[in-house]
Amino acid sequence: MNDEELINSEDKYLAPVYQKFQIILDKGSGCYVWDSSGKKYLDLMGGYGVSLLGHSNKTIVQAITNQANKLTSCHGSFYNAERANAVLNINKITPKNLDNIYLCNSGAEAVEAALKLCKKHSKNKIISMSGSYHGKTIGSLSLTWNPKYKKSFQPLLDDVDFIPFGDADSLSKIDDNTAAVFLEVIQGENGVKFASVEYFNKLQEQCDKHNVLLVVDEIQTGLGRTGKMWAHEHYDLKPDILCIGKGLAGGMPVGAMISRSDMTNFSLGEHTTTFGGNPLTSSAINASIEYILQENIIDNAEKTGQIFLNGLEELKSKYDSIRDVRGLGLMIAIESKFPIKDILFDGLNNGLIMLYSGRTILRFLPSLTLNESQVASSLQILDKLFQNSQKKVK
Ligand SMILES: Cc1ncc(COP(=O)(O)O)c(C=O)c1O
Repeated sequence: MNDEELINSEDKYLAPVYQKFQIILDKGSGCYVWDSSGKKYLDLMGGYGVSLLGHSNKTIVQAITNQANKLTSCHGSFYNAERANAVLNINKITPKNLDNIYLCNSGAEAVEAALKLCKKHSKNKIISMSGSYHGKTIGSLSLTWNPKYKKSFQPLLDDVDFIPFGDADSLSKIDDNTAAVFLEVIQGENGVKFASVEYFNKLQEQCDKHNVLLVVDEIQTGLGRTGKMWAHEHYDLKPDILCIGKGLAGGMPVGAMISRSDMTNFSLGEHTTTFGGNPLTSSAINASIEYILQENIIDNAEKTGQIFLNGLEELKSKYDSIRDVRGLGLMIAIESKFPIKDILFDGLNNGLIMLYSGRTILRFLPSLTLNESQVASSLQILDKLFQNSQKKVK
């Protein structure tokens, strides 16, 4: 199949739900990917934060290969050593009081499971935040803010109320009639948005006071992305339920919902999925968690992220078109005063893959193995891109 036939096949048969770049990615290694013509790109998108440990990380590849040769599928009705190790490994890195693990295949499924558990726990209202993104299945979509994703699918769940993220006054809406609050500690899809320590203190206080479950969605922020294992550690939050996914299995499809051991749990048959906890993904979870812990990549995310951010601050002082740069660890955004579409495409021409959030925000979710020289290359290219875009404006 030549490149044109390949593109035509995807365009003809796949649901047209993704904004496509006319680029065929062929292989990857670490922070780089190559297209079908052999062109190399520095990947700051990281498959929307999935390639946490780098593309085709050798440790993960080896673990998956070994497991594929042994046993790929094992339904939850049987026991399996890789799955048992996966839950021990997840348990090792998650908060001490969270001991119930539900394994699934995507972030939205983890959120869906959390939502069902909250509904089982209490019939009261659920609170979510403006700007939040929790997925696109009916349940998770009900918790997702952006009306453009929801408009064709109304009515969604009607027991979800939204309050403005970061607005301490609105936290009084968390009361005795609230079952749970769903929270992204740093809002990713919304353009890497932060809230203050005081805000989170009050949020935790309100949840404690009214016996409300705090569900923290760390699908994008978790596993070292922000320079700590969990973003909620920066703010001393105490989740009752944690949702994780993305890079948990080194690039294999995965999700996990981890809940407090002393709260409501699912009972037999109430919530299951065929592939959840399969040995192949479990082997990748084990290799990934061991890699994260052994290779110091969380410290690297903190250190390299800060160097990147410092460099972006310099760019901001150079280019008037940059409104803001912000980030924590290797979750970083540049907010422009103008649409960034041309910069995004110019980036691709210059071998840099970036992510966008809305019309004016560039977002970076690279591998946590990103090194200083790759940061320097990224900054050099970004400098050129903003220079080019300035020329265009003139
Ligand atoms: C914070 C957050 N929650 C949930 C999801 C949904 O995860 P998935 O796309 O794996 O279903 C995402 C995906 O980007 C996310 O960033």
